[in-house]
Amino acid sequence: MEHPDNTNKSGIGCVSRRSFLKGGAVVGGTIVLTGIPGMEGKALAAEMTHYPRMLIGRLSELKANKPVKFKYPDDGKNTNSVLVKLGVPAGGGIGSGGDVVAFNALCTHMGGNMSSIYKPADQAMGPCSFHQSTFDLTRHGIIIGGHATESLPQVLLELDNDDIYAVGMIGLIYGRYDNLKG
Ligand code: FES
Repeated sequence: MEHPDNTNKSGIGCVSRRSFLKGGAVVGGTIVLTGIPGMEGKALAAEMTHYPRMLIGRLSELKANKPVKFKYPDDGKNTNSVLVKLGVPAGGGIGSGGDVVAFNALCTHMGGNMSSIYKPADQAMGPCSFHQSTFDLTRHGIIIGGHATESLPQVLLELDNDDIYAVGMIGLIYGRYDNLKG
């Protein structure tokens, strides 16, 4: 519970989450603090991440349940990804049926490459050839079974007429500490 006067037992002023949020303003991707004693005008290291906008396919060329491979957000290590039209609505799906999605294809357990292991009957990626993890592509790549504990990183998509662009990611690519640094 928030202390009524925002002061802890030591007498040192503390800042509630609400007043912190009220006291911060986002300016050009950096949070500038205001209204916090001793912190006015200081910038918090909270740079926003900027992913490339990359053309990865054309809607009219996709065939249901035939994944197309691509690399994102760069051509480096562990960026093997697949774009697939599932034929059923999916979380984050684009197109008239909301069924076109894309995921990084490296298993989040120990990095097994699943870019050629898609199961159309279940709209699932896997089972991974290493330890059998399988991921549900209709529900943001959540784990169905196996050793992995993290969902597959989903590539965020935008549709511009017939062109499909990758514009960002949710989740961390296996083997990277930052998706934008190989
Ligand atoms: S690396 Fe895929 S289940 Fe272990």
